Amino acid sequence: MRQDTAANTTSDPAVANGLEMPQEAMLELAREAAEILVRRREELAGEDAWDGEFRDALEERLMRDPPEDGQPATEVMERAVRDVLSLAVRLDHPRCFGFIPSSPTWPGVIADFLAAGYNVNACNWLTASGPSHLECIVIEWFRSWLGLPETAGGVLTSGGSAASVDALVAAREAAGYPERAAVYMSDQTHPAQYRAAKISGIHPDRARIVPSDGRSRIDLDALARMVAEDRAAGLNPIAVCANAGATATGAIDPLPELADFCAAEGIWFHVDAAYGGFAAVTERGRKLLSGIERADSVGLDAHKWFFQPYEVGCLLVRDVSTLEEPFEIRPTFLQDSLWGSGHPNMVDRGLQMSRSARALKIWMSVQTFGMAAFRESISRGMDSAARAEAYIDASPVLECLSPATLSIVCFRVNPAGVDLAEEALDELNREVLARLFWEDPAFVSSAVVSGKFALRLCIVNYNTTWDDVREVLEAAERFGREALKQL
Ligand SMILES: Cc1ncc(COP(=O)(O)O)c(C=O)c1O
Repeated sequence: MRQDTAANTTSDPAVANGLEMPQEAMLELAREAAEILVRRREELAGEDAWDGEFRDALEERLMRDPPEDGQPATEVMERAVRDVLSLAVRLDHPRCFGFIPSSPTWPGVIADFLAAGYNVNACNWLTASGPSHLECIVIEWFRSWLGLPETAGGVLTSGGSAASVDALVAAREAAGYPERAAVYMSDQTHPAQYRAAKISGIHPDRARIVPSDGRSRIDLDALARMVAEDRAAGLNPIAVCANAGATATGAIDPLPELADFCAAEGIWFHVDAAYGGFAAVTERGRKLLSGIERADSVGLDAHKWFFQPYEVGCLLVRDVSTLEEPFEIRPTFLQDSLWGSGHPNMVDRGLQMSRSARALKIWMSVQTFGMAAFRESISRGMDSAARAEAYIDASPVLECLSPATLSIVCFRVNPAGVDLAEEALDELNREVLARLFWEDPAFVSSAVVSGKFALRLCIVNYNTTWDDVREVLEAAERFGREALKQL
């Protein structure tokens, strides 16, 4: 391949055009950005996990017409850091337990910087053979971790929501675009699946919500009943979306039974493993996710429990042709991209055309740290959740509402010997959550478990220690006791 013969060393601003920068200024800006980020990481644990601002205050700070003349780049960057980037949940804070946090590795962050700088468009092989091949490699790693067959393949996506849309489009195509198609998911399923069903043309009434059992897992009998009734009513069941790590509780649906059911019924078996999928790199996680290898498609997010910066999800399909059939495009203006053979064009595997080189961050992080470090960090998240459950069970003030599953545990303040009605308990726990939010450095979010307001910890940060978890549990106990006195 072609090599540059001479490096362009032009740094004279006089020859730069209006959007170019002299080399020294580029380096200074990049150096300062790196210093800001490294300093931020050093100071992170001493900060609160949440920061934010109300709309009118932000309006005052930021709402300006775009300037006609440029301003010094370092000043612009410093404003961006102070007035924009800092006003957000610090999702990589070791005490950030809300929603599904994320804690990107530094090589992953740098990979995004490099990919942007190289301005790669991983659309097809012609535009990006190296990045396309790397994407194949990373997808092959994921395939083998989940135990899918060698026929499986996939595509990196912006995240779990996009992966769900691609999956249901593939399911609909595989079913032959039937009229009155229906899709099934439990009441614990992330709404991204429901939305994906609607986007892929399923009437909202036929995106069927199946009740879950006492462990937040899909009720198999109810599912079988609904599918039978729907068939009798002339509907065409085309897909079941199973959870492999439901967002609220971490619940994993009975995957082997669902695989049997879908195979017997001829229904596409999709598994949403956006949060839980990467547990499969550990022995414990692989056991918990057993049955996932029988899926027709699996969505999983490396920007959740595989320590990558946003946005990188993945859709794997059992037979990659099921993805290429609905998504392949052959416009004449891309005819030049069809050179060579035996390579995929990623544009043919999903809804996105211009795409960044997402595989790079995964590959660079894994090469830098090695899989043992990833396994250890993921295991530690599971260990901490199990330890949190034990702490809650031993606490006279706390009650476990959903046992540690993968790395999520849900609980509430419900002191022994105090008889409070459910509504009062919900109110008490809302108060505890509010105090955690305003007074504690941790960031915790809530869920509803079996109709009860729950405090929820999701532990997916490679820097979170047991002390971080214990201290937030202690804070919940303390705030709970104090709130109780006010009643
Ligand atoms: C289980 C599950 N599925 C899907 C999604 C949506 O993924 P994304 O936010 O990457 O689009 C989430 C997000 O948290 C999730 O937890």
